[in-house]
Amino acid sequence: MADEHFESFHFRLADGTPVEFHTITPEDRERIREGFALVSEQSRYLRFFAPLNDLSDQQLEYLTDVDQDEHVAWGIIDLAHPEQPGLGVGRFIRDPSEADVAEVAVTVADEFQHRGVGSALFGILYLRAMDLGVQTLRAYILPENRFIAEILSQLGGTVQWHDNLMQVDVPIVENWARLEDTDLGASFVELLHHLDDAREPSD
Ligand SMILES: CC(C)(COP(=O)(O)OP(=O)(O)OC[C@H]1O[C@@H](n2cnc3c(N)ncnc32)[C@H](O)[C@@H]1OP(=O)(O)O)[C@@H](O)C(=O)NCCC(=O)NCCS
Repeated sequence: MADEHFESFHFRLADGTPVEFHTITPEDRERIREGFALVSEQSRYLRFFAPLNDLSDQQLEYLTDVDQDEHVAWGIIDLAHPEQPGLGVGRFIRDPSEADVAEVAVTVADEFQHRGVGSALFGILYLRAMDLGVQTLRAYILPENRFIAEILSQLGGTVQWHDNLMQVDVPIVENWARLEDTDLGASFVELLHHLDDAREPSD
């Protein structure tokens, strides 16, 4: 039976690569398992804050059996290589005690980093957060990833330290003009417009 939550659309990354965005479903289990093998030890540590060799069946179920409401997850596939696991995955999970706050995490396979995949995943999550009334995307970041905190600060994020971890709260703003004060904010707004057009084509 088709997954009632399934959505997908085509997009071009900043470098022109044609990709497909799609919501993660249980059918992505093997893709996620195989994709995890393309993520370096260092990147796994930066994402999960622990050394991880592989994902258990239980973790795979948690990461793929998502309702696209409390737990929202999207992946990106290179359309030239649809048989490959994919370029990256981004997700947010709402806090059960604070429904308008969601914890966000993005992972991009190392060989595809620095091509705009991470930004594009954050962009689609930002749009879904708006759709669902999430007001804050909260990222937990290790000090080695300080650059992410700097980027998110330019999107209005505020940083708090918890022991050796940064908590960055990015407010979701309806009026994107408020983000355009910095070059990075202006590029992000452009990306949001492109993503919004791509996911809801007018014709
Ligand atoms: C963080 C991560 C998701 C970024 O993905 P990405 O696809 O490389 O990101 P982008 O290409 O969209 O880069 C966005 C900007 O981040 C900056 N950036 C990316 N990686 C960087 C690095 N290692 N050091 C400094 N700046 C960096 C750049 O300014 C870049 O913009 P630019 O290319 O226009 O200069 C990716 O590196 C990753 O998966 N890391 C491991 C997991 C992780 O740390 N996740 C975040 C915590 S949940």
